[in-house]
Amino acid sequence: MSVKYEKLFEPIKIGPVEIPNRVAVLPIRGVVHSPNAFADVDYISFFTRRTRGGFGLIVLEGTSTSTFEDHYTMNMSLRLYEPSHVAPFKKLTDAVHAFGGRIFVQLTAGGFGRQYFDPNGIEPPVAASPIPLDIDPAYIATNLDKNPRLMGRLKGLVPVEIKQSLIWELIESHYNSTILAIMAGFDGVEMHAAHGYFGANFLSPNQNTRTDEFGGSFENRTRYTRESVKMAMKAIKEMHAEDRFVVGVRTSADEHTPGGLTKEDIVKIHEMFIKEGCSYVNLSDGPGFEKWKYLFPSEDMMPMRMEQAKYFNEHFDVPVLISSIHNPDLAAEVADTCDHVIVALGRQAYADPDWPKKVKEGRPKDVVRCRRCNLDCYMYSRMVNAPERCAVNPECGFEGYDPANWPVSGQLVRK
Ligand SMILES: Cc1cc2nc3c(=O)[nH]c(=O)nc-3n(C[C@H](O)[C@H](O)[C@H](O)COP(=O)(O)O)c2cc1C
Repeated sequence: MSVKYEKLFEPIKIGPVEIPNRVAVLPIRGVVHSPNAFADVDYISFFTRRTRGGFGLIVLEGTSTSTFEDHYTMNMSLRLYEPSHVAPFKKLTDAVHAFGGRIFVQLTAGGFGRQYFDPNGIEPPVAASPIPLDIDPAYIATNLDKNPRLMGRLKGLVPVEIKQSLIWELIESHYNSTILAIMAGFDGVEMHAAHGYFGANFLSPNQNTRTDEFGGSFENRTRYTRESVKMAMKAIKEMHAEDRFVVGVRTSADEHTPGGLTKEDIVKIHEMFIKEGCSYVNLSDGPGFEKWKYLFPSEDMMPMRMEQAKYFNEHFDVPVLISSIHNPDLAAEVADTCDHVIVALGRQAYADPDWPKKVKEGRPKDVVRCRRCNLDCYMYSRMVNAPERCAVNPECGFEGYDPANWPVSGQLVRK
């Protein structure tokens, strides 16, 4: 192993779960699963390929906890709310474990929230408050300005304000989904409250104008995610899984918007979730699609990301996942200076599944670098619900054709 990158490849514990190194795959939603949203062979092989390449942890994409999202035309979320959903996931977790990785699943009860985007402009989103999306063209991420559908619809439809009784139903759905996640062999669940999605719509003071128990004060705005965390903790306790299963929350690191959440707010929010039993923090960035560039940052935004890594490493005692640091040397610097930060890669994990292996062997120049172009992983796929591909990795999406990505029977014994 190259000494320079040593720290990146030291194991780290998230609660009771030992992660073999400090390099993770971020939730990258909608990769290649089947049209009825089950993990199929292509989907499983996409992740075993990344585990074979040395990623220690996978956080699976946003996954529905109830039928709430099912009616949306543009919904392709994975589902984990019925016993029949367990088997395909069990195959996935067994396969990832067989190759030595760990795997969490991100739960998104309310999906896109006010960012739900119907390309036909008919179906309104359902969100905390009726505040329509207003995308700032100055912050469109690279190449997304080439999408005429998006550019013609920078202002969203007015969301339907979700009823209190339905919010409680969605909160409760986390209990059932966590039970199913444990049965499916996952090592943890993560609540999605980041970058302008449903959970974030409650947290953010300028996305939430409610006057009931879910709006206004800090206590009320955090209630939706806090109660969801409590539901997950209850499920873990009932399943006697405290020694092998964890909960975390993903928020943005900062909303970079007047009246939005600041990094100081984010510390306060996660401290509250940690008190409820969360074992790690996952941080994305920005208010969501309104300032898209923070979610899909370009290379010139890395100094800010490095600052964030240092700031949150100082302010939290639990492991923190920091996104977007694709450059192996910057990743090594983070690992050296921030002792409980996990370098977490999204688009870069599409571009080169062997990023960890090559870096560990001291071959960072061999890494196929993500161009941060957002084309095949997002614009030509996610925005129209087609399978994701990658502009620099022709293998991406076709991993299922390579038997090396399939575990063999003897491998399927969990160590
Ligand atoms: C196709 C695609 C799907 C994504 N899906 C999710 C998701 O389900 N949940 C989530 O929290 N973030 C999601 N993200 C955001 C990534 O997790 C990550 O924060 C973002 O891509 C920036 O990191 P990167 O620079 O390493 O790509 C997605 C990103 C992409 C490109």
